[in-house]
Amino acid sequence: MIFYLEENRIFVLETENTHYVFGIDSAGYNRHLHWGAKCDPADYAFTEIGDENSNHSMLDEYRQELTPFGSTVYRTCDLKAQFADGCREVALRYTGYRLEDDTLRVAFADAYYPLQVRLGYRVYPGLDIIKRWVEVENTGSAPISFERLFSAGFSLPGMDPYTFENTNGAWGGEFLPCRTVLDGGNLVYESHRGASNHNQSPYFIAHRGATETRGAVYFGSLAYSGNFKVIAGRDLYGITRVSLGMNDFDFSHTLEPGAHLETPPVYCGKTEGLGEMSRQMNRFCLEHLLPSRFRAETLPVLYNSWEATEFNVNVADQTRLAEIAAGIGVELFVMDDGWFGARNNDRAGLGDWFVNPAKFPGGLDELIGNVNALGMDFGLWVEPEMVNVNSHLYQAHPDWTIEIPGKPHAEGRNQRILDLTRREVQDYIIETMTNVFSSAEISYVKWDMNRTFTDYYSGALPPERQGEVAHRYVLGLYRCMRELTARFPDILFEGCSAGGNRFDLGILSYFPQIWASDDTDALCRAEIQTGYSYGYPMSVVSAHVSACPNHQTLRVTPLETRFAVAAFGICGYECNFCDLSREDFAAVKAQIALYKQWREVLQKGRFYRGRTF
Ligand code: GLA
Repeated sequence: MIFYLEENRIFVLETENTHYVFGIDSAGYNRHLHWGAKCDPADYAFTEIGDENSNHSMLDEYRQELTPFGSTVYRTCDLKAQFADGCREVALRYTGYRLEDDTLRVAFADAYYPLQVRLGYRVYPGLDIIKRWVEVENTGSAPISFERLFSAGFSLPGMDPYTFENTNGAWGGEFLPCRTVLDGGNLVYESHRGASNHNQSPYFIAHRGATETRGAVYFGSLAYSGNFKVIAGRDLYGITRVSLGMNDFDFSHTLEPGAHLETPPVYCGKTEGLGEMSRQMNRFCLEHLLPSRFRAETLPVLYNSWEATEFNVNVADQTRLAEIAAGIGVELFVMDDGWFGARNNDRAGLGDWFVNPAKFPGGLDELIGNVNALGMDFGLWVEPEMVNVNSHLYQAHPDWTIEIPGKPHAEGRNQRILDLTRREVQDYIIETMTNVFSSAEISYVKWDMNRTFTDYYSGALPPERQGEVAHRYVLGLYRCMRELTARFPDILFEGCSAGGNRFDLGILSYFPQIWASDDTDALCRAEIQTGYSYGYPMSVVSAHVSACPNHQTLRVTPLETRFAVAAFGICGYECNFCDLSREDFAAVKAQIALYKQWREVLQKGRFYRGRTF
């Protein structure tokens, strides 16, 4: 519930156990007042800050909900614009609010320029989660550019230093926890990779020595799949503030007259203990964020043929694997890379989304018919955002890739990134994927994205708008995902980005599960999956039992251990089923039966971490 106290212009966001309070002072500034236990709203008042003088700035000390650049604010700002005459300062003054059910918009206008800014808030019954975002609108007749446009600013209660938790990971080692006590200066977590998080994560978790069960924990997670920035700082007043949003390191966004832009949202909350933080986020994902079609579903046990056959797919070998998988209890058979175009290795074929006739003379229908006849659903791998130079698509549209004219291109995994800032490229992806998904009985799609961004440049944008490439790419990607998930609501999509390079609430708004890491070694995975458990439900963490010795670490791990770890996520199998001994066949069969018996609890249950790393 959200309510407004008219006489002192204070907004109270009431969640299940907390009050989040801010208001508008007599000068029209937005001022944060309280985040924590419920109190009597009459207790909330603006603290008067001492007189302004040349060494002490009142504005700098204010706990603003969103801090614009300008005047006597010297700390991190959340919003920086450039107006037609070159002025970059923003002077926001309150103009009104709109409260509809659980959603509040508080409006501000620049005192000198035609810019409107609205701070958005939403609460969710029964939860301690608050959604925050920012809307900007150009109400004038000349363009306005933004150099920084964050989604939210937070001022944490009290003056003592906070400990911040984030991740410091890599490909094959995602979500490894890191922890920093912030007693002064700024702490930055960010991504420049075009995707959200092989390294650091688009969220903040702040506390003062909290444990799983005790101590106030403040957190906020950005629902965004591109370059992000989280800046936490403790200033000269002892105030700890956090700002987060799209990264401004290579960012600009120009709003034409009449245009508006909404930032990606942040989902934030305050809980008692780290365990309750995770359970709040789990419930929020399961009840509000994930695609509604899959929120209540338990997810199937799948077999993915990648480790067994890599690019050497054909109807006979895949059918043989499917026969074993069906006998063992698998419910969904997935054929990975290699089924399309001239895709015999990773140097050709991406972009040519038609079935390779030499490998599948009867099209996909023949294999899918075999799989369905064995009682399993069928799934397919795609990587729609990419193209190999060695492909028909690249020959036809060499200008459709992200690259800088006249400069050598960085080739990651021998492939280039399609320019999703272009509408025609988005349309191509939507239409070719629609053809593939409707060509046969496809129940699941693994949507991969296997390289990081380089060469930030789009031939479709003028020079002064090149800073928009990274964000426009994410918007283009979301349009493709939104359109395709709407056209195919029953397909179970799994996100993947060279493992967990795009594991965030943005992807999860469209795809209900994500491949957690290309490292499937059970011991590594135990640590990686623990990392994920802080901010995401285990029902979105895709985890497979793979070969032994493990392909990434060469470690020998008992089948039982590999299953025990995979069973904490959405359990699947990837090892070559043709190599299974008679004992292992029986063991895997028993594992899958056990998993099916307990998966409701394992996927949807309340999650408590015991020992942590
Ligand atoms: C990535 C994925 C793998 C597999 C290959 C296919 O590396 O992480 O699981 O799908 O691509 O090329």
